[in-house]
Amino acid sequence: MKVMDKSAQRVDLLVQGIGELVTARGSLPSGGVELGVVERLSDAAVAIHKGVIVAVGSEEELSASFDAAEVIDARGAVVLPGLIDAHTHPVFAGTREGEFEQRLAGKSYVEIAAAGGGISSSVRGVRESSKEVLLARLLVRLDRFLALGTTTIEAKTGYGLSLEDEMKCLEVIREAAAQHPVELVPTFLGAHDYPPEFRDRKAKYVDLLIEEMLPAVAESGLAEYADVFTESHVFGIEDSRRIMGRAAELGFRLRLHVDQLSPLGGAQLAAELGADSADHLECISEEGIHALGEAGVVPVLCPLVPLFIGQAEEAPGRRIVDAGLAPAIATDFNPGSCYVQSLPEAMSWAALRYGFSAAECLVGATKNAACSLRRGETHGTLEVGKQADLVLTDLPNLEHLTYELGRSPVRSVIKRGVVVYERGGER
Ligand code: NIG
Ligand code: FE
Repeated sequence: MKVMDKSAQRVDLLVQGIGELVTARGSLPSGGVELGVVERLSDAAVAIHKGVIVAVGSEEELSASFDAAEVIDARGAVVLPGLIDAHTHPVFAGTREGEFEQRLAGKSYVEIAAAGGGISSSVRGVRESSKEVLLARLLVRLDRFLALGTTTIEAKTGYGLSLEDEMKCLEVIREAAAQHPVELVPTFLGAHDYPPEFRDRKAKYVDLLIEEMLPAVAESGLAEYADVFTESHVFGIEDSRRIMGRAAELGFRLRLHVDQLSPLGGAQLAAELGADSADHLECISEEGIHALGEAGVVPVLCPLVPLFIGQAEEAPGRRIVDAGLAPAIATDFNPGSCYVQSLPEAMSWAALRYGFSAAECLVGATKNAACSLRRGETHGTLEVGKQADLVLTDLPNLEHLTYELGRSPVRSVIKRGVVVYERGGER
């Protein structure tokens, strides 16, 4: 048993009856063979006070040591750290199921975008929507994240593409974070695409981003990260370098969409810029993998996206791990290329497509994801001193986490020491 303060016997909450508590350890990303290293404690309990974990250990010891104001019984099932989704685009209005059908009929993601669909269609939706409408939609999505065990998300803008509309989305993110237990890490993705009014003068939009939008967003303090969609049909390597270089000068931390649809060498750019994450990587080269490893950039893998858009290339998940890197697993939830909010589903696909074990998937969607968001000290594991974000499941063992597709294993969720979700009123 590890107890932070032995004199503090009175605690707010004791979670007991844990059949198997599974967690990574430490605050640094786990890569290579370490990716699958987790602690598995049987007959365990967790003591929580003021939103922080104060003890993790055997139920017998903890129930004797702590006088808890509230006791929750995990009923012999698996308890996990709150899941962390390190890549989402959750601020949008309409959905794009018509494009899903078009892809099934043979159109590609890029062809649909070139015909005025894709990101542009979501831009129209966001521009036509009030802050109130966008907030209401986002809050519903946050409820779904929570019900699926996700307690922290990285939340990108990128469907406004004017200073006014991007600020509207950032304000919506701030407001949602104030109202909802899911924690949001805001990312400014003004470089997601070219807005329609700049279609014929793309260089001018890059200038606008650099000269006006990034400085204004930095001034507002509403975004922690800046991101760019580095791809041949949107922002090439040179433009991405300029945009992200400026963002870094202004104090943003960086994450980049790279090497998703074509092998542009975006991973090397993310490494050169010292980004916290390089996301997608379906077309990453060996050189790119090496560069990310050298620079300590977290690869954020989104295994549901190729499935969703019918792309043949998939991220070389196992090669990335064999090279010693420490990947995170994310949904990339957005209305176009992945209308899926479930990290358990993403983990199952990481298992099936990359050959990741359940333990590797769990570390990817908890500690490594936290590290990609610079929150490894406080989030992503169940250890003394960390924020008390827990998922109580009905899984009999860890392996069921990836083995079971298509249903949510989440029974209840604790965020900062408070029960914020219970399935169907059960407890
Ligand atoms: O991560 N890659 C760029 N952005 C999203 C797709 C956004 C959209 O189609 O609306 C992605 O896949
Ligand atoms: Fe994305």
